[in-house]
Amino acid sequence: MRSEEIIRRYSRVFPRAARVTYAPIVGVRAKNAKVWDIDGREYIDFLSDAAVQNVGHNNERVVRAAVEQTHRLIHFTFIYGFPVEPLLLAEKLREISPIENPKVTFGMTGSDANDGAIKFARAYTGRRTILSYLRSYYGATYGAMSITGLDFEVRSIVGELSGVHYIPYPNCYRCPFGKEPGSCKMECVSYIKEKFEGEVYADGVAALFAEPIQGDAGMVVPPGGYFKEVKKILDEHGILLVVDEVQSGMGRTGKWFAIEHFGVKPDIITLAKPLGGGFPISAVIGREEVMEALPSLGHTFTLSGNSVASRAALAVIEEIEERNLLRRAEKLGKYAKKRLERMKEEHELIGDVRGLGLMLGVDLVKDRETKERAFEEARKVVWRAYELGLIVAFLQGNVLRIQPPLTIEEELLDEGLNRLERAISDVEEGKVPDDVLSKVQGW
Ligand SMILES: Cc1ncc(COP(=O)(O)O)c(C=O)c1O
Repeated sequence: MRSEEIIRRYSRVFPRAARVTYAPIVGVRAKNAKVWDIDGREYIDFLSDAAVQNVGHNNERVVRAAVEQTHRLIHFTFIYGFPVEPLLLAEKLREISPIENPKVTFGMTGSDANDGAIKFARAYTGRRTILSYLRSYYGATYGAMSITGLDFEVRSIVGELSGVHYIPYPNCYRCPFGKEPGSCKMECVSYIKEKFEGEVYADGVAALFAEPIQGDAGMVVPPGGYFKEVKKILDEHGILLVVDEVQSGMGRTGKWFAIEHFGVKPDIITLAKPLGGGFPISAVIGREEVMEALPSLGHTFTLSGNSVASRAALAVIEEIEERNLLRRAEKLGKYAKKRLERMKEEHELIGDVRGLGLMLGVDLVKDRETKERAFEEARKVVWRAYELGLIVAFLQGNVLRIQPPLTIEEELLDEGLNRLERAISDVEEGKVPDDVLSKVQGW
């Protein structure tokens, strides 16, 4: 069976709502930062499977833990019973979380964790309004979709939760207020105060939902003091800070949680993607009194706290601790960022390089002055990279997403960056034909 046949059969059974594709890769085997397809082609995975494989694909420790657990006990629902594995995981998450003595609950994927956070925040504050950010992404369940600052034509068709308001994210490269970093007056902060002077009743706001680094918005890193200033405003009005660490957590940025770079303590953290090393598990971690605000059955799922996924997650945490992957993410991230910045000197197509640790974005532009997004060029780069054996994606149509496993071998990181540079050169030199544009979907 070859790729083309599988891909043809895919379109027969799966609706487009369930998918968004970049390259026709039928992955059948993977190890650390390498993936092999059904035709035997080898790829370097600069995407970590959408920021899932922080400790590498099929990490040995995760495989061993999951196999051993599978033989012993796959599932004993943690809603009714007392399985040990989710308990050990919750205790471990309490230890590494920046929230003091939090309580923890589990789900299956990032979206349900964010739905939980909406419910916990509303229940605790007795308020309905949620503040969120433009261009944010929180997931595809009803709640998460409703607080997401993007509409892929879906919300306009299916409807959404009410009481959600959006503010611009602090984006120093594409400042929504047209300012320059260094000379601005943090208009992104004063805008919140303005919002509270009329449009939104501040004391009726339950929570601000924030990604500490906006992932799907194109790896946007806020300026250092931003969250501290915002937290002051939130505290004045008793508004909770919910941070979504679904993409930025579990060591990706060189700390367990990206919010730790910004010196504020959140009230709730949501986690998923890399937590289970590929097994479906999410977590809501929150201040005890917040997490006790919802009554019994307020956030329960039959398959949550699954013993195999919990054991896998414990193995992920052990791997990060024992191999000191926080330090490694920081070190490799600095190295990769430097190389990307050098590429920027050589390639006009690159407008900006940004990110923390191994959560990096390369903003492709048609013109460095106007910063017009280079949509077609980004598609061509991703396609050419695929042809060269590199898995990479773009976000917002033009920002290359560079998120390799924290365990990637240094030579492989270099080789991936070489392939990326070659793809960029080939696009700049007009070597990638227009017909590839219809082959890459992405978003
Ligand atoms: C920041 C963030 N939050 C939430 C989600 C939703 O997670 P999931 O797709 O696991 O439901 C994503 C997924 O891309 C994400 O990047």
